[in-house]
Amino acid sequence: PVTLKEAYQDDFRMGVAIATHWLTEPHPELLKIVAEQFNAATPENLLKWQSVHPERDRYHFADADRFVDFAEQHGMRITGHTLVWHNQTPDWVFQGADGQPATREQVLATLREHIQTVVGRYRGRIAGWDVVNEAINDDGTLRDTPWRRILGDDYLEIAFRLAHEADPDAELYYNDYSLYLKDKARTASRLVRTMKRNDVRIDGIGMQGHWSLDYPPIEDIDRSIQSLSAAAGKVMISELDINVLPWPGDQIDADVARQAVGSPELDPYTQGLPAEKQAQLANRYTEVFELFVRHRDFIDRVTFWGLEDGASWHNNWPIKGRTAHSLLFDRNLRPKPAFDAVIAVGTRP
Ligand code: G3I
Repeated sequence: PVTLKEAYQDDFRMGVAIATHWLTEPHPELLKIVAEQFNAATPENLLKWQSVHPERDRYHFADADRFVDFAEQHGMRITGHTLVWHNQTPDWVFQGADGQPATREQVLATLREHIQTVVGRYRGRIAGWDVVNEAINDDGTLRDTPWRRILGDDYLEIAFRLAHEADPDAELYYNDYSLYLKDKARTASRLVRTMKRNDVRIDGIGMQGHWSLDYPPIEDIDRSIQSLSAAAGKVMISELDINVLPWPGDQIDADVARQAVGSPELDPYTQGLPAEKQAQLANRYTEVFELFVRHRDFIDRVTFWGLEDGASWHNNWPIKGRTAHSLLFDRNLRPKPAFDAVIAVGTRP
């Protein structure tokens, strides 16, 4: 049978986010699938600041080393994720030794040391980095984060310069979600253009791709890929998964939600997926991969945010204890109709 990476070998790399526990506990069957199907890898959590640098004087590289070794052994191109983010960053980063708020100089020194150490350790092995993650609000303004408050609006540029110093050969990306929104995409393009004008290295934009069955409209994704690639050159679909469950915030009537998702005895937000929804998921994957193939001159990589539904972050978000169905493999590691749909698009003559 044709694998994902074979089906898209003339188009772009096919990637997957690797969960830490796949490497720290035995997962032979799962890792076999990962190695067979994909030629790119991103760590889901293990290179985030909280994981890799939990205390000022303590780095934790054991998991990251395992991850890099595994990806290399299987010819997977590695994307490092992520250097600057407002989430999963320990409080000490923004505090002085005395527990007082850190000064700009202190945070700059901390950031430089972190990037030198982490990017430097994997120099020549990690091919590209999500340098800054999620710095833009949906309305296109810059997000208010400790990084921005302490370092100023040019903290993005600072981070990219530091990453480039630490590994001059690594590609550097800006990564964000909901970039199908016009205002958000416009700001991302502007940031990239400004950086290029200031001779700061930036190679592309990661569009995360946390989408739903019918949102966003394919036209909006299409438009954003065009505008972002015009500004940045490369576009990566960096965190693809498609949520099929009702959105709690939408206040869907519980009965409607039950019908929408499946059997009436089960909680509307946590149950199994009926065949009809499986088909809708497959159709949505077909639609987005048709679009990606049309833009293959700009899209360098498509990375799924996980392999099997059981380990998807959607099981815990937007509410905990759901049963997510967002990915290509089910909880028993069987390929779903969505998998066949993706292969079918990639193997069309
Ligand atoms: O590390 C603890 C562990 O010690 C503990 O046993 C376990 C118990 O639940 O929790 C572990 O931490 C969790 C971590 O994932 C590792 O599983 C955190 O609570 C949980 O918040 C964290 O979620 C991650 C999330 O980023 C954090 O915001 C998700 O796995 C990860 O998929 C998600 O990924 C992000 C991207 O980095 C950026 N774009 C959005 C995407 C989805 O939110």
